[in-house]
Amino acid sequence: MIPYGRQSVNLFDVLNVSKQLAFGSLTQGSKIEEFEERVAEYVGARYAVAVSSATAGLHLAVLALELPVSSEIITSPISFVASSNAILYSNHQPKFIDVEPETINIDLNLVAHEIEANKNIRAVIPVHFAGLPCNMEKLAKLSAVKGIKIIEDAAHALGGNYPNGKKVGACEFSDMTVFSFHPVKSITTGEGGMITTNSYDLYKKLLRLRSHGINKLNDSFESSLLSTSGGMLNPWYYEMQELGFNYRLTEIQAALGVSQIDRLDKFIKDRKSRVDWYLLNLPKVPAVAPAQSKSSTQSAHHIFPIRINYSELNISRARLMKSLKEKGIGTQVHYIPIPLHPYYQKRGFGVENLPEAMSYYHEALTIPLYPSLKQSQQRKVIIELRNLIGAYQEK
Ligand SMILES: Cc1ncc(COP(=O)(O)O)c(C=O)c1O
Repeated sequence: MIPYGRQSVNLFDVLNVSKQLAFGSLTQGSKIEEFEERVAEYVGARYAVAVSSATAGLHLAVLALELPVSSEIITSPISFVASSNAILYSNHQPKFIDVEPETINIDLNLVAHEIEANKNIRAVIPVHFAGLPCNMEKLAKLSAVKGIKIIEDAAHALGGNYPNGKKVGACEFSDMTVFSFHPVKSITTGEGGMITTNSYDLYKKLLRLRSHGINKLNDSFESSLLSTSGGMLNPWYYEMQELGFNYRLTEIQAALGVSQIDRLDKFIKDRKSRVDWYLLNLPKVPAVAPAQSKSSTQSAHHIFPIRINYSELNISRARLMKSLKEKGIGTQVHYIPIPLHPYYQKRGFGVENLPEAMSYYHEALTIPLYPSLKQSQQRKVIIELRNLIGAYQEK
């Protein structure tokens, strides 16, 4: 079976994880710090905080902004539900803004209108869809006027670049960036995530929220009565200062992360060469096109979504996916627009103002892409796709 995405784990990864398991600590130790330092250094941010998933990271990032209850936060409807669930966890309201057809990223002209018209917008969570970065400089300019905060959902985008050459996660134009290390992502720790920021205050807050809201650093205890006796710091003392969580990554996972990050640039290069091959070899019919038609030079190429005009080809997507599966080819749809999910529908969200998201959803299909995908496998994907859509009418 050729899956739509998969991890690349080699013998070094296995050895590094085994070494950690056999000889190292399992939680709350120096491997996590090493992994955090490596990610911060790679993306060019001052601080990085490892967490148990990007979902946890988004939750903490929203909390760390300390917005007034029921603030509205703009995000993209074409994303995994975690992007907007993080807003709901924190008792705020997602505001879904339509995507632009060339990139399937949130449409910044519509964001500008919303910011202008809606006083309750306090933050934006842009999603770098499929690894292609949003125009952060433009978004930062729009947001700065009203002091609107920005958290980048870069679950797909570790290893991608902004147009100015900086790495996604540098946080030049945002408050925080959140990455995912789920197996199909740029690098994996099984489950896992990372938040990057340049703000020392946010960094300290994220560290605290990740671990129950507890502070162990002796420079910032609130209670001198509990923390000291006879003028000395009590060596057992720790202090819960706010309601936090256990969102920690394990040392075993961090060992895999450190081992994988050495190969991150190679992974992105391998992904890009496979995308380039697809772009040359996709069936040349008007009803089939890559989903992101703008320059792909900065993308981390997390997935390769294409658009198929099924009605023009007189085929159903469900049948096509089933037939491809019978031929050993895995495909997926990224994503069902978030406000279409029953949970969101029941809470009054709708898709009335999201025509581009809906049009994309009706045509989307993600075909296999991962660093170890062989050219013979890519050829098989294209041949089967061509046969099934009857692409004998190629231009
Ligand atoms: C855009 C986006 N944001 C957030 C997440 C959540 O990531 P995690 O699985 O690490 O919680 C995902 C997961 O696929 C995602 O695609």
